Order: sequence, then C-alpha cells, then structure tokens
Amino acid sequence: MLSPVSTSKMLAGTVCLFALAALAASTPAMPVYDTIIVGMGAAGCTAASVLCRAGKNVLALEAQNRVGGRVNTVPFGNGVVELGAEWIHGERPSRVYDLAIANNVSILPQDISFQAFRSDGSVADADLINELINYGLEMVDNPPPNPEPLGKFLTRKITEYIQEKHPALLNDTDFVSQFMEFMDLIIDNYESSNNWNEVTTHSKFEDLEGNLHLSWHKNGYKTFFEILLNTYNNGPGFPTLDLKFEKVVTKITYPQDPHDDVTVSCKDGTVYRARNVIVTVSLGVLKERHTTLFSPQLPTAKVESINVISIGVVGKTLLNFDPIFWDPKMAFHAFLWKEEDRKKVPYEDRWTLQIDGACVTMGSNTTLSLWTNGEATRLVETLPDEVVKRKCMELIRRFMGKNTTIPEPTDMLRTNWYSNPYTRGSYTFDNLQTPLHPHARATLAEPLVDSSGAPRVLFAGEATDNTHFSTVHGASDSGHREASRLLPKGKL
Ligand SMILES: Cc1cc2nc3c(=O)[nH]c(=O)nc-3n(C[C@H](O)[C@H](O)[C@H](O)COP(=O)(O)OP(=O)(O)OC[C@H]3O[C@@H](n4cnc5c(N)ncnc54)[C@H](O)[C@@H]3O)c2cc1C
Ligand SMILES: *[C@@H]1O[C@H](CO)[C@@H](O)[C@H](O)[C@H]1NC(C)=O
Ligand SMILES: *[C@@H]1O[C@H](CO)[C@@H](O)[C@H](O)[C@H]1NC(C)=O
Ligand SMILES: *[C@@H]1O[C@H](CO)[C@@H](O)[C@H](O)[C@H]1NC(C)=O
Ligand SMILES: *[C@@H]1O[C@H](CO)[C@@H](O)[C@H](O)[C@H]1NC(C)=O
Repeated sequence: MLSPVSTSKMLAGTVCLFALAALAASTPAMPVYDTIIVGMGAAGCTAASVLCRAGKNVLALEAQNRVGGRVNTVPFGNGVVELGAEWIHGERPSRVYDLAIANNVSILPQDISFQAFRSDGSVADADLINELINYGLEMVDNPPPNPEPLGKFLTRKITEYIQEKHPALLNDTDFVSQFMEFMDLIIDNYESSNNWNEVTTHSKFEDLEGNLHLSWHKNGYKTFFEILLNTYNNGPGFPTLDLKFEKVVTKITYPQDPHDDVTVSCKDGTVYRARNVIVTVSLGVLKERHTTLFSPQLPTAKVESINVISIGVVGKTLLNFDPIFWDPKMAFHAFLWKEEDRKKVPYEDRWTLQIDGACVTMGSNTTLSLWTNGEATRLVETLPDEVVKRKCMELIRRFMGKNTTIPEPTDMLRTNWYSNPYTRGSYTFDNLQTPLHPHARATLAEPLVDSSGAPRVLFAGEATDNTHFSTVHGASDSGHREASRLLPKGKL
C-alpha cells in the first residue's frame, strides 16, 4: 500500500494532468497521456517507473485496490505474511535484489532444508530426504537429450541414484513411492503444475546466480513496489504518474492509422486515450478474456501463444499459533504419506494429500504456511474456512503431533489466486507442448504496431519472459523491456 504522504503527492500529479487534459480538449487528436499501463503488478510498476523517470505522462489503471498484483504482503501473526510471492529468487542479474540492496533494505536467506514426518507420526530420515530432494532438483538442470515429462525423468534418475548410493532402500518400495509422491509436490510448488508430468524436462527457465531463497521477511515484498514507485521512506512518488485503483479495463481499441490514439475503456464507463498502452494482465486473465479485451481481436499467432502456454495455481493456507509447538530451529516440515494411510483418506479430503508440509514464514515466526497446488488449490478456494481449518489441523496433528499437544490456531488466512478474476492462476510453466512451440513467449511479447510500424499495444508480465517467467524479477524485467521500447535509445 502507498503511504498517505505519497498519495497526496500523487494527487498533485493528477492536478497537473488536469491542466493537460484541458489543453487536450481543445485539440482532440492530442492524447492526454503518453502511455496507459493496464495492471500494476511487478511488470506494470517497473514500466511506470522507467517511463516516469524519463518524464512521460503515464496513466496506470489497476483493477484491484492496491499495487503489487501477485505480490501481496498483509499483516498477520507477529509480523506480516506474503499471500503471493515470497522469495527473491537469486541475486544476479536481478532488479529486485539490486533495489533492495541499493535502498539498504535487509533481506535474509531462508534455509530450505526439511525436517520430515510420516503419516503415522514417526520421524523420517531428514538427511536422506534432503539428499534425495537436492539430487532431484539438480537433475532438473541436467535434462535428457530428448524432451519428456519431468516426473518420468526424475523418477528414473532418482531410482538410479538410490540404486547406486542406497541400494537397501530399493527394497523399501513404500518409502520410494512415498518419496516420489513428495518430490512431485515439491516440483508442483516450483512450477505451479498439477503434477510433475505436465512439466517438460526442456523448460527454458534459467536460475539467476546467488542465493535463490532470499526473503523480505518483516519488511514485506511490498517494499519492492514502494521503491519502484518512489514512495519508499516517504519518497515523493512521480508527479507524472496518474494511478487509479478499482479500474477494470474491459476494452483496448488500437488503431492502424498513425494519427489515431489507443482508447482504453473501463467497466465503470470511463474511456481513456493515449499514444500507446502496455498490457500486463496475467496469462490467466488473457486466456479468459482476450476475445473481448482487444478490438480488433488479437492476431492468430498471439492467440496460439496464449493457448499453448500453461498457467497453474498454487495456494497457501496460513495458520497462526500462540504458543508455537514446533522446534524453532526448523522452518520446513515435510509430510510423507505411507501408502496404507493414503488409501484411507476419504475422497472429499484428497486435496489434503496435495499439501507437502508446513513451513514457518519469514515475516511472522508464529505462522505456518501450508501450500497446495493444481486442482487441489482450485477446490480449496471453494471450501468454507471452517472445513479448511479443521482438515489442515487434522493433517498437522497427524504428522507433527505424535509427542506434542498441538493447540488450535489463533488465526487463519487463505489465498484465492484462481478465483480472483484479476489473476486466474499463480504463475506460468513450460509444459509438454513447449518444445513444439519454442517461440510462444516471444510471440506473446511482440507489440501490436500501426501502419507506420510504431508499437501501440505492448505486452509485459511474467509470462512474456522466455527464461525468467514465473518470478517477480522476470515480471519486472518484462516491464522494463516494454517501457524501453517506447523511449529513444540511450534515454534510460
Ligand atoms: C502464491 C504465489 C507464490 C509466488 N512465489 C514467488 C516467489 O517466491 N518468488 C518469485 O519471484 N515469484 C513468485 N511468484 C510469482 C510472482 O508473484 C509473479 O510472477 C509476478 O508477481 C507477476 O507479476 P506481473 O506484473 O507479471 O503480473 P501481476 O502481478 O498479476 O500484475 C497484473 C496486474 O493486472 C491487474 N489486472 C488484471 N486484470 C485487469 C483489468 N482487466 N484491468 C485492470 N487491471 C487488471 C491485476 O490486478 C494485477 O495487479 C508467486 C506467485 C504466487 C501467486
Ligand atoms: C545505505 O547505507 C550506506 C552506508 O551506510 C549509505 O552510504 C547510503 O547512503 C545508504 N543508502 C540509502 C539509499 O539509504
Ligand atoms: C517422540 O518421542 C520419541 C521418544 O523420545 C522419539 O523417539 C520420537 O522420535 C519422537 N517423535 C517425534 C515425531 O518427534
Ligand atoms: C532386497 O530383498 C531381497 C529379497 O528379500 C534380498 O535378497 C536382497 O538382498 C535385498 N537387497 C538389499 C540391497 O538389501
Ligand atoms: C521470533 O522472532 C523474534 C525476533 O527475532 C524472537 O525474539 C523470537 O524468539 C522468535 N520466536 C519464535 C517463536 O521463534
């Protein structure tokens, strides 16, 4: 959220734009704004920052009542929790990391090793499990020569590894299958896939250098947006940014004639004009609405990209405890189901099998976060609070409650990234079709141009980044990329 001070500074910006609007009224062909940005997540806020720093008049239309999009820091427990993005995934090259460092915001690495529990309440061999997880994740970066489903490949590699390093384990077929189910969930959390066989071994995703799990902890990921919009530490904001909330864009009309404006219509009936527009809505929103959102409709190649790229959904259920009941030295608690217990879970509770464990959050150390993925997440979003809380507590007590009495949580918070009409998913991944459509993301990123070749509708957002999709740094890069397209070279 923006601070009151910055909001008043932004109002000053609006006032100066009113003067411009009055000017424009006498010469109707002149657009009021240089650029309209649709959506103020990481891509939109980065684009706004680049354009405003270059002196451009920018109108930002955001459907929700806050900036951040798929980043949402909220007060909870004894600090804050992240309903969306949690970590800065790597240091170099990353605008997210660089801006945190440049502004002296403390960020902390999170140790992601697991303590492991089985469904009968016993403790599993954590060293072994961490060793196997690390090997599996390493193999993700060492794909086979030909593309295949990631789960199939990892099952083979991990089995070979166990055969070589821990041959006695192979006789414990229950352990091996427990571990494979668990590893599937870990991959699904990373990818937001429904299961690990939806993901290709030939993903174009590339990790950054440096620590891959840095946290904004008590500062919250929201700080990144304050820095971008120049409101951090009571900064003045940008005088040429007109930021409007609860503005649901319903139609973007783009011209062929170089003299005409782009017009952007909102659900509340308002219409805005500008030279060009940067669209940053998620792939989930594009999938649902592209046929009505653009006039004329999008070219076939872009529609094909929208169709072939996948966006999945991950969700979190956050539970706060007072007092805490876990060992404060351990953050990640892995849940491994024994086959006989798994079989007994009633059909309506099968979504609980999709929770890979409970993790202490970095912004509130009295809070456990339970992640779900895929179909299970979609279902959980439709269930009443009372049911989700009861089932999550049954799960926690089953796995972590053998020697401890676990109290009821004091508070619960849940995500709704799929039911939210302005998100419709969490992040994109490279599916089995990706190797057949290697240019899908680049095509999605291509601007729509007028008859003179000038870009009029530009596309940013995590889905448009070929190698850093699914992340905040990738989304931010994409906003930078599209804003730069609108500036003379060398003016950055
Ligand atoms: C649960 C979860 C965990 C994640 N964990 C991480 C992590 O740890 N690290 C990481 O790097 N990334 C993580 N991500 C991914 C990261 O959050 C996203 O990749 C990134 O924030 C996307 O930014 P964006 O600007 O592309 O899109 P968005 O943030 O979705 O921004 C688009 C904006 O457009 C708005 N909008 C939509 N429709 C309209 C409309 N019709 N009119 C006007 N506005 C509209 C939306 O409200 C939104 O604000 C996570 C995401 C989720 C959901
Ligand atoms: C960050 O800290 C350094 C050293 O303490 C200081 O020189 C610099 O001005 C600070 N930067 C900001 C943006 O506060
Ligand atoms: C419970 O206590 C027993 C005995 O101290 C110990 O062996 C076992 O590992 C504990 N189980 C859990 C889940 O902590
Ligand atoms: C696995 O079990 C078989 C049959 O019980 C036994 O012969 C073999 O030695 C076991 N292998 C290992 C590595 O323990
Ligand atoms: C939480 O963090 C605070 C401040 O760092 C610390 O004093 C406290 O002991 C921690 N509590 C738990 C439950 O880990």
